[in-house]
Amino acid sequence: MVPILNASGCLDALTAPGIARSLDAFVTKTVTPLAQEGNRPPRIAETESGMLNSIGLQNPGVEAFLGDQLLRLAELGVPVWVSVGGFSARDYAETCAALDGCAAVAAIELNLSCPNVEEAPETAAELVAAARASTARALYAKLSPATWDIAETARAVADAGADGLSLVNTIRGMALDPVNRAPKLARGAGGYSGPALRPIALACVHACAQAVDLPIVGIGGVTSGHDALDLVAVGASAVALGTILFSDPFAPARVRAELEQVAAGADVAVRGEPRRSVAPI
Ligand SMILES: Cc1cc2nc3c(=O)[nH]c(=O)nc-3n(C[C@H](O)[C@H](O)[C@H](O)COP(=O)(O)O)c2cc1C
Repeated sequence: MVPILNASGCLDALTAPGIARSLDAFVTKTVTPLAQEGNRPPRIAETESGMLNSIGLQNPGVEAFLGDQLLRLAELGVPVWVSVGGFSARDYAETCAALDGCAAVAAIELNLSCPNVEEAPETAAELVAAARASTARALYAKLSPATWDIAETARAVADAGADGLSLVNTIRGMALDPVNRAPKLARGAGGYSGPALRPIALACVHACAQAVDLPIVGIGGVTSGHDALDLVAVGASAVALGTILFSDPFAPARVRAELEQVAAGADVAVRGEPRRSVAPI
């Protein structure tokens, strides 16, 4: 069985608990040490082959998250992966330390790659090392596809103590209003997601699966069981659904059923090493 997750920021589990329960694990919107309002609207725009967003890590901050949301998420009965972000290594370390003692946290996904906020000055490996020193929880490093050699980053975060990889985050893009040629998003550029990201995600998962011996959650433009099986074929152990959830909230159950059907007739398992299992789910 290939676990199906949501991609961070693409599902509000407390508003749609039935959809969340249809997942093998729920991944939260990225949490930062302090509350973030996010960017100015408009911060969502559609394009022909994907979606642009510049939400910018809007969240209530880790204290409020721990005070209320996490308890309610735990009641869903689905393993909860908490996505952690920040603006410095210290931010990552503090948030991971705050989550470390929480039994309700099944895993931590480090958002090392949000294109909609100022980046931390440290490298991805330094951020993973800071998080690793602060928590014993399973750590998944979520990487950006916007790098020349993602395999090199994968090796560096593996050496820094990551237990798995989430591949990929959005890639920076822009859309213009056809009348005045002004950017559709108030911030100008945003993170591009959806079907256009699929070949990029495939290349990234393929490169990283050859480079490191870590489980990989494949993310990027998945809309069907075929898309999910493609990611598995190049090395993913699990698949996460993002943009598709906005147009088809019932996609997790549908994609799982389609995947079972197409996988039954495929010889994917024999094409590579046996998949590394994604734990903890
Ligand atoms: C509206 C929106 C909000 C997102 N928020 C986050 C976030 O808070 N943290 C994160 O790591 N990724 C975030 N992402 C990126 C997704 O988790 C995912 O990596 C990306 O959308 C690619 O998958 P998809 O093509 O299936 O959407 C967001 C994406 C969208 C569309």
